[in-house]
Amino acid sequence: MNVFPELNTERFWLRRLTLNDSAALFDYFSNDDVTRYYDLETLTSIEQARQIIMNWQLRWEQDETIRWGICVNGHNTVIGTIGFHNWSALHQRTEVGYELAPQYWRQGIMSECLQEVLRFGFVEMGFNRIEALIDPDNVSSRKLLEKCGLKQEGLLRDYLFEKGKFVDAAIFSRLKKEYITS
Ligand SMILES: CC(C)(COP(=O)(O)OP(=O)(O)OC[C@H]1O[C@@H](n2cnc3c(N)ncnc32)[C@H](O)[C@@H]1OP(=O)(O)O)[C@@H](O)C(=O)NCCC(=O)NCCS
Repeated sequence: MNVFPELNTERFWLRRLTLNDSAALFDYFSNDDVTRYYDLETLTSIEQARQIIMNWQLRWEQDETIRWGICVNGHNTVIGTIGFHNWSALHQRTEVGYELAPQYWRQGIMSECLQEVLRFGFVEMGFNRIEALIDPDNVSSRKLLEKCGLKQEGLLRDYLFEKGKFVDAAIFSRLKKEYITS
């Protein structure tokens, strides 16, 4: 993709991240509640947020990742992000990941954004399978995925080495044929 695709939902617009969003990301990624089940140490400096954004940007340029910043319609402040990573062109599959600043949790925001991102992934990017790997104890992420039609396939034992220890990952997926017929 040459041009970064902006997406729109009823309440939100999803746009390209820039380094100007570093403070917003640092604000929530410096909160232990946000990183508890996330493959990331709680941030201690804004420079780390800059690195995250630069890394997503680099991987976007290499056709490996796309990460949108989520903004309320009419506002430019990023309240969370969502996107695809670990693309496989050969197998036409990808993983989805997301996070939201805590003051916005449980208002249906990520469900609204994930539905649109799934549509974009299946219809515009042509993925056949969209996966999510989550901590089995991450209830909010599990409920979100189930609400958006992803099904748990199993538990990958000691799958990730996070924060100094091996942890299990629950694997969820949704297939294009399920999406098209739903
Ligand atoms: C996971 C996360 C993105 C969910 O976003 P959200 O906008 O709060 O989710 P929604 O409001 O769209 O909720 C989706 C569904 O999950 C349910 N849900 C969300 N959090 C829940 C919780 N803590 N307990 C029980 N149900 C929960 C909602 O009720 C809703 O279901 P319903 O419509 O049937 O009631 C958010 O909690 C978050 O950013 N967590 C920290 C980062 C993280 O863990 N990211 C994922 C790493 S894999």
